[in-house]
Amino acid sequence: MEKLVIEGNHQLKGEVQISGAKNAVLPIMAAALLVEGETKINRVPNLRDTRTMAKLLEMLGAKVHFSNNKMMIDAMKVDNPVAPYDLVNKMRASFYVLGPLVARCGKAIVSLPGGCAWGPRPVDYHLKGLEKLGAKIELEGGDIIAKAKKLVGNKIRFDFPSVGATGNILMAAVLARGETKIENAAKEPEIVQLCEFLVSMGAKIGGIGTTEITIEGVNELMPQEISVIPDRIEVGTFLIAGAALGKITLKNTIPEHLSVVIEKLIEVGADIKIDKNDITVKRGKKINAVDLTTAVFPGFATDLQAQWIALMSIATGSSIVTDTIYHDRFSHVPELNRLGANITVEGNSAIVRGVKELIGAKVRSTDIRASASLVLAGLMAKGVTEVNHIHYIDRGYEQIENKFASLGAKIKRVSIDD
Ligand code: UD1
Repeated sequence: MEKLVIEGNHQLKGEVQISGAKNAVLPIMAAALLVEGETKINRVPNLRDTRTMAKLLEMLGAKVHFSNNKMMIDAMKVDNPVAPYDLVNKMRASFYVLGPLVARCGKAIVSLPGGCAWGPRPVDYHLKGLEKLGAKIELEGGDIIAKAKKLVGNKIRFDFPSVGATGNILMAAVLARGETKIENAAKEPEIVQLCEFLVSMGAKIGGIGTTEITIEGVNELMPQEISVIPDRIEVGTFLIAGAALGKITLKNTIPEHLSVVIEKLIEVGADIKIDKNDITVKRGKKINAVDLTTAVFPGFATDLQAQWIALMSIATGSSIVTDTIYHDRFSHVPELNRLGANITVEGNSAIVRGVKELIGAKVRSTDIRASASLVLAGLMAKGVTEVNHIHYIDRGYEQIENKFASLGAKIKRVSIDD
């Protein structure tokens, strides 16, 4: 086991190269299952989650080569369409293989993901969508068994614009017979990139980037090469760090993916400059307390809510941070309070009363973004903070301690005995 040890309260200054987006590359890796050939993916972040997905693809029969942020997936043979509990339990995004496997193999057995630190997280939209495309779905021994000789296009309307369900149904529908229409589809940049990737492979998709996507099924797809978009959540995390602690330039971003975060940070008092694909953030005279409510894209991402609360914990005044996507996603709050923050949770809102300073302590990661919020809080706190259970942070942030250390943070990874 490892932990991060942070000596806080040091100014940050310098540049950070942003990695490829975890949430974009995972569905792209699953989409490689749709084609009998070699998919090449560039700018793949070396994360626990990308390695887990690579392992899963290999179990399904594909060959995967991953080095220097480049991945090659040879899916000539996909002959074992089974995603076992151990992998799906480790990473819910494993569920992304369901749609492509049914489309390619006519059958898939994928373990049903359980709940997680943020509450129940059901997959009913994925399953109802596949049923609409003609798949027969059964639950046996905790596994979803989905079968369809040939999927057939249909109209699917999601009650909520789910990112995962939109991706799964897209990947199933591209090889279905006839037209599929997804209403109330997700339009997150990661879904847009998945659509564009599928189109480059020969899929016929209309309405990309809107809430109504139409897919005209094709018989086969061609292998392609793609570069993953920059990780907007990593960008947002570093922007928040800069707004608290100094002046940071984030290189190779797509600023339009962060419009709302940038607006909110300006309200906080930070100075933000955009130069093509680079964003520079500088701490203002004081940190104003700013309320926010998470929303689907282009709204403020739920994946940045925990980091925002860390910033608000040292703001002047009180703020209310509401999560409309995951109502229970506040496991970072008791840990932030261990550092001296003054936060209470009521329903799906956190009431954050800004304190003068945070004081270092031992804290524990509970999920990927909660861990990032604890690292930020540790960097802001006086004294030493130990962030434990950092396997979560390694799922979603590539070399986070090296990136912060290069900005002048005093942060190191330390091995500990169990
Ligand atoms: C993805 C992201 C995750 C992010 C989330 C919301 C990946 C790998 N993960 O997760 O980091 O926090 O989007 O932006 O990209 N829902 C249902 N039934 C379903 C599916 C979803 O009720 O079948 C609900 C969820 O409980 C949640 C909401 O819909 O309240 C949004 O979830 P969804 O967009 O599906 O999130 P994920 O794709 O799991």
